[in-house]
Amino acid sequence: MTKAGGAGQRIETAAQTLWEAPELAANSAVGPTGRPLREIGEPPPPDHTGDALIVAMCNQKGGVGKTTSTINLGAALAEYGRRVLLVDLDPQGALSAGLGVAHHDLDMTVHNLLVGPGKVTVDQVLINTKVEQMDLLPSNIDLSAAEIQLVNEVGREHTLGRALRPLRDRYDYILIDCQPSLGLLTVNALACADGVIIPMECEYFSLRGLALLNDTVEKVRDRLNPELSLYGIVVTMFDARLLHSRQVMTRVVEVFGDLVYDTVISRTVRFPDASVAGEPITTWAPKSGGAEAYRAMAREVIFRSGR
Ligand SMILES: Nc1ncnc2c1ncn2[C@@H]1O[C@H](COP(=O)(O)OP(=O)(O)O)[C@@H](O)[C@H]1O
Ligand SMILES: [Mg+2]
Repeated sequence: MTKAGGAGQRIETAAQTLWEAPELAANSAVGPTGRPLREIGEPPPPDHTGDALIVAMCNQKGGVGKTTSTINLGAALAEYGRRVLLVDLDPQGALSAGLGVAHHDLDMTVHNLLVGPGKVTVDQVLINTKVEQMDLLPSNIDLSAAEIQLVNEVGREHTLGRALRPLRDRYDYILIDCQPSLGLLTVNALACADGVIIPMECEYFSLRGLALLNDTVEKVRDRLNPELSLYGIVVTMFDARLLHSRQVMTRVVEVFGDLVYDTVISRTVRFPDASVAGEPITTWAPKSGGAEAYRAMAREVIFRSGR
């Protein structure tokens, strides 16, 4: 715990300059983070498309809600009129599957962009999803070979960044769903990202991994991408009925302060159900608490990033 604590203090200071917290409403209610809720209203329509903000959705622990958060944050941003590109950077292809794409059968995936640059264009790989304004660069198990294939390439950490460059002008947000490791693929995501969002399962041992993740973010910032910021931590699978959940929440906020999004994602079976249906929860169960939660997160992300 103390280790995570130390890392947390460092990141918290780094985050302070990034954005100013919205005004607190008078007598505002306390939210699940234990802080007073800061209501962020409907975001204005985007004033321009292009120069996308690239966000790596990253945590080396598996099953913490990276893919679920990528799909649903993306869909909620698209509902708010933002043009969104999702990048599946996990050879398991869960992001592609969760959007109803039969990824096993695809010939063209992110893998082709990474190992055959110049031979394949992004438009050969790009898929329009059922969500308006949201596109996908899909992946499947082919991507698992990329780490080895890239090892001897010059500038191997910047391969994804090079591939995404022609797309940056077409979108407002590019969200990269990372695999659960800190290997070369994840480093590629961090090397081209403007910022990192860490989905974190509301569970005691999840805190420990954050120190290691933060060290990796710092190393990448130091050696590959000086602009890389830590945007925030979104707590997932929260269950307000459990003392354990509430205790972990308190600790996370103590350690990471304002880096923790006010939006907290509750545990509900509707998320796995929606991914079986191959849809974001925002279209599969648009009025559900889960859909509302990711809309609230999208408002926070838009508010914090100003686009
Ligand atoms: N808030 C939630 N409540 C309940 N189940 C969830 C929630 N978020 C994700 N899940 C489920 O947990 C599993 C792991 O989530 P996933 O987003 O795939 O994590 P990761 O990408 O970090 O491995 C999936 O089956 C997903 O449907
Ligand atoms: Mg995943």
